[in-house]
Amino acid sequence: MKSYLIAGNWKSNKTTNEAMEWLQKLSAISLGTRDSGQELSAKNNTFVLCAPYTLLFFMKQEIDRLQLPIALGTQDVSPFGDGAYTGAVSARQVKEFADWVIIGHSERRKYFGETDEVLAQKVAQAKTAGLNIIYCVSDENTVIPDGVDAVAYEPVWAIGTGKAETPEHANAVIAAIKAKTQIAMVIYGGSVTPDNVASFLAQSAIDGVLPGGASLDAEKFAALLQAVEL
Ligand code: 13P
Repeated sequence: MKSYLIAGNWKSNKTTNEAMEWLQKLSAISLGTRDSGQELSAKNNTFVLCAPYTLLFFMKQEIDRLQLPIALGTQDVSPFGDGAYTGAVSARQVKEFADWVIIGHSERRKYFGETDEVLAQKVAQAKTAGLNIIYCVSDENTVIPDGVDAVAYEPVWAIGTGKAETPEHANAVIAAIKAKTQIAMVIYGGSVTPDNVASFLAQSAIDGVLPGGASLDAEKFAALLQAVEL
């Protein structure tokens, strides 16, 4: 049986109060707990929520208190270690709260000018700190640094547009990435919703999804997690 990775990316959204509301809604939906022997979390699936840095401390406390079967991640990390790098958050600081990090998202490349070089530095920092890395690529030709744990194929035109890639084509690109890199975990992102998620998860090469917009709504995010059961 396949193990899936479902990782939500909140991007620059939510205050503490809004995150609290989301967590309470999610905890009211039966997903199982980390201690449950029966339910979703026990089936070797990995559920991650990549939150803004400002919410990490609070989210970690609440996820523990509510016993939610989700791990925390961030959406970026500094290419440097601790030290005099004003405004940056180091991988060691992230690791205090989170176990996952997204690196190389197309929005980081586009709006923050991140290059393959800087992204390789981020991967090296995250690796040293012991973070699990989801590395985003826009096609099978994007350079992928050594040491990433999972790759997310996110065609730029499908992000936030409501126009998802076809599952068959996403599967073909993901199969090509796997053949090229030997990376075992490759997921799809770009307008994933509760309505189309099953069609992606049913593909042979696709190991999960990276929803943005749909992860902001607790009920939709829960439906995406529950889809691994379909
Ligand atoms: P949407 O699901 O909103 O299209 O965003 C996808 C994404 O960029 C996840 O990283």
